Amino acid sequence: MSAIRGGTQGARKRSNLLTARIHDRELKRCAGQYLKGRLADIGCGDKPYSDLLAPFVEEHVGIDHEGTQHDRSRVDLTGTAYDIPAADASFDSAICTAVLEHLEEPEQAIRECWRILKPGGHAVYTAPFIWHVHEEPRDFYRYSRYGLEYLFKKAGFEIVELKALSGFWTTFGVLLVYKMQSMNRGPLRWLRFVDALGAVTQSVAGLMDRLDRAEQWTWMYLVVARKP
Ligand SMILES: C[S@@+](CC[C@H](N)C(=O)[O-])C[C@H]1O[C@@H](n2cnc3c(N)ncnc32)[C@H](O)[C@@H]1O
Repeated sequence: MSAIRGGTQGARKRSNLLTARIHDRELKRCAGQYLKGRLADIGCGDKPYSDLLAPFVEEHVGIDHEGTQHDRSRVDLTGTAYDIPAADASFDSAICTAVLEHLEEPEQAIRECWRILKPGGHAVYTAPFIWHVHEEPRDFYRYSRYGLEYLFKKAGFEIVELKALSGFWTTFGVLLVYKMQSMNRGPLRWLRFVDALGAVTQSVAGLMDRLDRAEQWTWMYLVVARKP
């Protein structure tokens, strides 16, 4: 989450190492299977996946809006997710990671992605289901599997994959670490052991998710959608 990095991924903060690792692993797998050619990175933020995706695509075009809270030097095309300054069918593939929750009109944005993709092109989205509010005030929604399925099909996409990226333990383990980190200041600054505790919590949470995977508690869904 950036990708909920302030919230989810990208910046490798101590508090979200577990979710960042899962997100990276899944994105890399999807890149090998679905991404190629000219890639649109919609709501790219600091473009944290440029190195990870470089072996798979020819060009990685970062798109973000003027009001982004991220480093604008990484943005190649300035425009909103609703009105991307690009011709119809001008991209072979697209990613949109941890952005959908920040869009007041997600359906419109998914249609815009459909417009810029070539027929047969794939888009890889990630969208949170359980996560704290971040990048306020532009944080509007959380998504269930059923909401995502509805939105993508309505926009004309075929759904190739729709996958929960964690179960209960990863979600609440990482949220607990965020909370502990947020308390590690002021009069509670004595909590110097919080980093070590956070590392242990994330290791245990990752292990527990393997033993008891309850996907209805996922922190994040991944969608691979294809334009027919
Ligand atoms: C949580 S960050 C994710 C950034 C990046 N995709 C990642 O995975 O690290 C959310 C991104 O959505 C962008 N965003 C918010 N509203 C937008 C809009 N209307 N059009 C395009 N991008 C938008 C923000 O500027 C920010 O870069």
